[in-house]
Amino acid sequence: GLKKKEVNVLCLGLDNSGKTTIINQLKPSNQSLFGPLSDDWKHVSQVKTQTQDIVPTIGFNIEKFKSSSLSFTVFDMSGQSRYRNLWEHYYKESHAIIFVIDSGDKLRMVVAKEELDTLLNHQDICSRRLPVLFFANKSDLREAMSLVKVSQLLCLENIKDKPWHICASNAVKGEGLLEGVDWLQEQIA
Ligand code: GTP
Ligand code: MG
Repeated sequence: GLKKKEVNVLCLGLDNSGKTTIINQLKPSNQSLFGPLSDDWKHVSQVKTQTQDIVPTIGFNIEKFKSSSLSFTVFDMSGQSRYRNLWEHYYKESHAIIFVIDSGDKLRMVVAKEELDTLLNHQDICSRRLPVLFFANKSDLREAMSLVKVSQLLCLENIKDKPWHICASNAVKGEGLLEGVDWLQEQIA
């Protein structure tokens, strides 16, 4: 068939926000999110959908998955403060950004905003019209802030020179992820 367009996506956000959990849900063994899996793959899917074995990322991981029209290479970066200086090395080669927020982490929302502002003001990002997809993740937590509240705290309405979109998500269950990926796909295609 036709070769899918290759895109690099950088997945950013504070540690513990759920980046790796999100990417795991989108990976080939979990492509059930993109349509029914054949029986051959169901056992693998069940093994891989378990989220308990996800550990904090050291440095970063590279993952690949496909949507209907695109072939994604995702740089799943560590959000720990000691690794955040790695992020900028991948800005130039990225075609889109996924920025993940823990909607339940009120205390660190200012830190998330600082990191977002630093990102958006970076010389390799600020002049480019690359799409930014936000996941207000962990929407299942009782203390989770609403999508509107998260948007306000991050001042997303101030982003005028880039297409952006925010989705509420529950990465453990895989909820809200496809809406986001569909939007990203439309922006890039
Ligand atoms: P770093 O690699 O350290 O930057 O963290 P990360 O952003 O990759 O977070 P990770 O995916 O490792 O998830 C951190 C914890 O949050 C794990 O225990 C996940 O199971 C949990 N988690 C992720 N998404 C959700 C969610 O939507 N709801 C709930 N309740 N927990 C979640
Ligand atoms: Mg991780």
